[in-house]
This record gives sequence, structure tokens and C-alpha cells, in this order.
Amino acid sequence: MKILGCADGPASFNDEMNRRGIRVVSCDPIYRFSRKQLSTRIDQACEEIIEQTRKNAGNFVWSSIGSIEDLRDTRTAAMAQFMADYDEGKEQGRYVNAELPVLPFDDGAFDIALCSHFLFLYSNRLSLEFHRESVRQLCRIAKDVRIFPLIDLDLRPSPYVQPMVQSLEKNGFTVSIERVPYEFQRGGNEMLRIMGKTQQRRHHRC
Ligand SMILES: C[S@@+](CC[C@H](N)C(=O)[O-])C[C@H]1O[C@@H](n2cnc3c(N)ncnc32)[C@H](O)[C@@H]1O
Repeated sequence: MKILGCADGPASFNDEMNRRGIRVVSCDPIYRFSRKQLSTRIDQACEEIIEQTRKNAGNFVWSSIGSIEDLRDTRTAAMAQFMADYDEGKEQGRYVNAELPVLPFDDGAFDIALCSHFLFLYSNRLSLEFHRESVRQLCRIAKDVRIFPLIDLDLRPSPYVQPMVQSLEKNGFTVSIERVPYEFQRGGNEMLRIMGKTQQRRHHRC
């Protein structure tokens, strides 16, 4: 199983999967920075994000993460884990400097492509055309594409989801909107799943 984590940022996902023996390649434009540069940027951004979350606390579901302090501890631990893994992961090709809508991977290079908290979330800043090109790119390189969540920063359903579903179905992809158990942004508990044509044929044979 080869997994792509697109827009993975300074998260512990890659390291955690690697420790379990699952190969994940993460791509993000922030991986052009050195460990030291990233560390400075993360320290600056972290308190800002925590303050924003505190101000808008009503927009979040405080169950799996119980409080602002819990959020700070969880984020800090995840980023520390990422930083500790960064140099080795970069050498091993697990952290790749690349950005949507064009990614430097071969057709069908991955079984699954995951994209969390980037596409749809910034619908107010990124155009429908950018989303279309990005999703096309993810479908080119992975058989199973999963994008989460389907709401924007103001908790509104992204206006791009339905047009995207329609054009993907028209082009022969199998598309579903699936409920997931994780919900931190209030109402952000669904992912878009797109299965490529090759994958459908494989399922059929099974
Ligand atoms: C909110 S963070 C999400 C990080 C992680 N996926 C998560 O869910 O916690 C958004 C990430 O998107 C990355 N990003 C920005 N522009 C991008 C692009 N054009 N292609 C891929 N990633 C991009 C940012 O660098 C940032 O790390």
C-alpha cells in the first residue's frame, strides 16, 4: 500500500505510519524550508492559531480534543514529532516539496491520496478551477482519492463539492460522500471519496 499525504504540513502522520511500516509520501510547499526555518515558522504560527481557535471556540466540537490547553498540547506534540523526523524523512523521500495543482509523481504511483484541511477548506481563496485541476491531478496519481473536510473556514458547505461530484461522475469516476468519526470543526465530518476507473475494475474482478 502506497499512500500520498497531500498538503500534509507539519504533522506527525507520516512518522506514525512509517513506524508502523506503511510507506507514506507527504507533499507540501513548506518542505522547501530547512528544519531550522520550519521550526521558527511553526513557533510563530502556533500561538496565533491557538488564539484564533480560542476566539472562535464555539465553531469546534470539544470531545476528542477536550479544551484549548488540550489542543495546544496535542499540536505541540505532533509538531515536535514531525520536526524530529523531518531531516531523515526528507532524505528518504518521505517529505517532498511540491504543490497542487501540479505534482511530480507518475500516473498511478499511489494506492491512496489523502488531502486534509486544504482543498474545499479555503474555498473563499482558491477558485473552482484550481480545485478541478487539483482533483484531476490527485486522480491521475492515485486510484483512491480522499478529501476532508467538505466545509470552509466559516463552517459553510463548500460550493465546489457538488459541481466537482457532477463532473467526476460524468467522467466515469465513482464518487461518494462518506461520514467519518472525526469532527473538530463543527459540521466537518464528511469526506469526498473518488475511485478511479482502474480501481473499479479491480474491485469488480474481486
Ligand atoms: C491547514 S494545513 C493542513 C495540514 C494537515 N493536512 C492537517 O490536516 O493538519 C494546510 C497545508 O496546505 C499546504 N499548502 C498550501 N498550498 C498548497 C498547495 N498549493 N498544494 C499543496 N499543499 C499546499 C500548507 O503549506 C499547509 O501545510
